[in-house]
Amino acid sequence: MAKNCLCLTGNTIKQNVDILNKYRKYADLAELRVDCLDGDERLHIRRFPELAGVPVILTVRRDIDGGYFTSGEGARLKLLANGLAYANADSRLNFAYVDIEEDFNAPSLEEAARTFGTRIIRSCHDLKGELEDIPAKIKSMKRAGDEIVKVAVSVKSTRDVLNVFRASDTFIKQDKILICMGHYGLYSRILAERFGSFLTYSCALSEDITPGASGQMDVRELSELYHFKKITKDTKIYGVIGNPLKSSVSPWFFNTIFNLENADCVYAPFPVTNINDFMNLADEMNIQGLSITVPYKETVLPYIDEKSEVVESIGACNTMYRKGDAWYGDNTDYAGFSTSLLNFLNRKNLKKMKITIVGAGGVSRAVAAEIYKMGGKALILNRTVHKAASIASRYNFRWGGLDRQGIELMSKYNDIIVQTTSVGMEGYDVSDPLELYEFSGNESVMDLIYTPPQTPFLKRAASAGCKILNGYDMVIRQACLQYANFFDREIPKTHLSQINSLGVNGWDRTLSS
Ligand code: ATR
Repeated sequence: MAKNCLCLTGNTIKQNVDILNKYRKYADLAELRVDCLDGDERLHIRRFPELAGVPVILTVRRDIDGGYFTSGEGARLKLLANGLAYANADSRLNFAYVDIEEDFNAPSLEEAARTFGTRIIRSCHDLKGELEDIPAKIKSMKRAGDEIVKVAVSVKSTRDVLNVFRASDTFIKQDKILICMGHYGLYSRILAERFGSFLTYSCALSEDITPGASGQMDVRELSELYHFKKITKDTKIYGVIGNPLKSSVSPWFFNTIFNLENADCVYAPFPVTNINDFMNLADEMNIQGLSITVPYKETVLPYIDEKSEVVESIGACNTMYRKGDAWYGDNTDYAGFSTSLLNFLNRKNLKKMKITIVGAGGVSRAVAAEIYKMGGKALILNRTVHKAASIASRYNFRWGGLDRQGIELMSKYNDIIVQTTSVGMEGYDVSDPLELYEFSGNESVMDLIYTPPQTPFLKRAASAGCKILNGYDMVIRQACLQYANFFDREIPKTHLSQINSLGVNGWDRTLSS
């Protein structure tokens, strides 16, 4: 099973030991990145395996390979030799592994390593992502029988990830480390076992140290959110595709449920650059189910063999799952929104309700369709007025801009206000999209954003006395419907109440409390 290797990039031996002690329970082994140590500290590396108490990789990474070492090959050889010197008969007191780049020629060092049972990791770092034939590379790198071959590629696209994944099936008997560095390779680190990798590198991101390489995941997140150690070749894979993949509650939601159910499943984030390449990867990895987010809800349609009624009529899909070899597509956004809104209002429909929808993007289109279906009458206000008009005219709704004129129209459409824009979301524009509107306190106000739990808009509504709801309830409802699609059963109520009591990304909160 793939091991979790905690990459130690602290400036001092003590800092590294402290970090290792803090996260020891997650780490199968550690990598001492000597290139990150302060000059004087490098004199004391020989004692590190004894201090660590777990198998340690000795690494002095050059800047040209993505590390921080700039002092030349002579100095590097000396450091590596110091680390391996005075080998102890008790192998736990020696470095268990030494990372030697494929172009680093040091036969006497290799000889010394082999004599005392230090395994060589023969590594290649393709920072430009130019490596085409990875199997050929693996073949050319291996020198002796017990070596581990490491190929780390900077991936800029899903095609690059696919290329690395396809290499996992070659040289099956050879221990190898295959890493996709960078944002688009994120899931290769979680699914290291499936990528045929001997280990994955993680780091202690919350300790305010530099990650050892681009895309390395936080050691605790990898262990507590993705339950890395439980992932085997048989684990069923689910996940969410999007680009850029905004912060999403789905990995937390599904992995928490899987853990509560003791299900052999994992749910990973899949940042995707090309839907066709990803669907090939999904087939080759035997992915069982997917949540689909921006911008793939429409482009995914040609890959679906059987569509639900709602996908047929709307032309957008947010859920895919396997029925035998075929992909089935559904859309749970719509039902998620309407059940959340009706529950909030304690109503069965929206007859006689006058509603303002703020925004006219993709989400607004779904919201307008549902409001129409539930019998409501709406006014759509948007910064770009023609987009509001285009949606509103389909349902005989009214429309306007977010200006004085538009706001005046709201006096007849203010039983309910639904905010669908990204304004106020963490990491986006933090202003209030409806700042010209004065709440009377009688409106029921729903903002589809849930990070932060209260946007400036929602806060203002609450302080005027309005009844408010954020988008968390809707997101959980649509995720529950996705779960029902994936597994053909409802989520047990006890699990759901545990999820709800934790709140957004509760895994982090449980651990830090
Ligand atoms: P989504 O799929 O999440 O709805 P979208 O289709 O990009 O995303 O739509 C974003 C919505 O937020 C649009 O209504 C957009 O207004 P425009 O159509 O005028 O672009 C709205 N929006 C984004 N930033 C905004 C801002 N700073 N002020 C007002 N509206 C904004």
